[in-house]
Amino acid sequence: MSLLRSQAYSPDAYADHLAIVRSRTDAALAKAGFDRLLVASGVEKMRFLDDMPYPFKANPQFKAWLPLTRHHDSWIAYTPGERPVLVYYQPDDYWHVPPSAPAGQWVGHFDIRIITEPAQAAAILAPLAANAAIIGEADAALPGVVPNNPKILLDTLHFQRAFKTPYELDKMRQAQRLAVRGHAAARDAFRAGGSEAAINAAYLAGAGHTDSDVPYNNIVALNENGATLHYQYKSTQVPAQHRSLLIDAGAEVDGYASDITRTWGNGDAAFTDLVNAVDQEQQHLASTVRAGLDYRELHLECHLRLGSVLRSLEIVDMDPGQMLETGVSSVFFPHGLGHPIGLQVHDVSGFSDADGVLIPRPAGHPFLRMTRTLAPGMVVTIEPGLYFIPTLLAGLRAGPHAEAVDWKRVEHLSKYGGVRIEDEVHCTDGAPENLTRDAFAELN
Ligand code: GLY
Ligand code: MN
Ligand code: MN
Repeated sequence: MSLLRSQAYSPDAYADHLAIVRSRTDAALAKAGFDRLLVASGVEKMRFLDDMPYPFKANPQFKAWLPLTRHHDSWIAYTPGERPVLVYYQPDDYWHVPPSAPAGQWVGHFDIRIITEPAQAAAILAPLAANAAIIGEADAALPGVVPNNPKILLDTLHFQRAFKTPYELDKMRQAQRLAVRGHAAARDAFRAGGSEAAINAAYLAGAGHTDSDVPYNNIVALNENGATLHYQYKSTQVPAQHRSLLIDAGAEVDGYASDITRTWGNGDAAFTDLVNAVDQEQQHLASTVRAGLDYRELHLECHLRLGSVLRSLEIVDMDPGQMLETGVSSVFFPHGLGHPIGLQVHDVSGFSDADGVLIPRPAGHPFLRMTRTLAPGMVVTIEPGLYFIPTLLAGLRAGPHAEAVDWKRVEHLSKYGGVRIEDEVHCTDGAPENLTRDAFAELN
């Protein structure tokens, strides 16, 4: 077992995490030439010509400091060597439930200043704004406090965020545990013949979430809908047949996300074989996550492995290397192998080095979201899939490789949409930790 994995979770894990955030910030400020960091949590956004707010999502750079995910109009002001200041917006509101008094293990680490009006933050922050890096969206600006989002500073902080602290890994493991409960409930609702909306409701109840606090919109796709990679609807209609369910759904704990996909069938032999084969390749790829491995290589390896599946299940009669070269494998697997995950589902800095310089994707693979070399502390998704996407299949059928495809088999499997299996994998200094499989194993 690796060092990182065997580390006991310290009761001071938050304090240790904050010390790391501070030291990363010290280095980033020095590198970018700023004296201080100000971070806005963000403002509540209203629908156009309306008084209804969109669900609030906090600035991830704010959430990196402390587990406040619902607190708009709040700020952190950090000067190296000093205790960070938290400007905490707590309105006197009887229309909504206002934030409660600050509570949690983080409280003792901040100099907390309560404000009851967003504008009151200016009096605290404007005197600190000279030569400050100010991170936030433009609409967070206050008189004398205008976000400047320095690129060098953000690139540096983003790069470092790939390396999760023990505190963050603990939150991410918790987010797995919630999501797998949802996945088990969703599978049962599928088997009981529910609509997509009913399956989604079962998922949310199982995971203890609402539609507005999951980390991304759940993808709950029955039958052919599984062929739409980010299928966005949840039909309330019960279909005549329940052939397949592709559910891509996560959970969130203190701002940290999980992102899990499972695919279930109805016992059809060809689709069962396909699901099992993708699952087997997924587990193999997840088990090969290692420090020093270029994620791009793993993505290309995934194409070869999925190509072998297409060949062995007699869907495409072509050498897997040739499928990769000619783009045939991309017809069935048109997205990337995965991405970094943490405070954001598609976490920042999948594509750049410590100086923010782009690490290019392999030619012909425009949707790969991770091009970095794996290192201890990184958490990435491993999410291979094989789909039957009408528009891509039409191109294949009209092209030079059409005769390599068993179109009858494709027609049959098209009724099932597709297969995706997705786990989160923690790269350690030894064998990888599959956060998702561990959580499913705990459930059983
Ligand atoms: N749920 C979106 C993704 O898997 O990347
Ligand atoms: Mn994903
Ligand atoms: Mn996903």
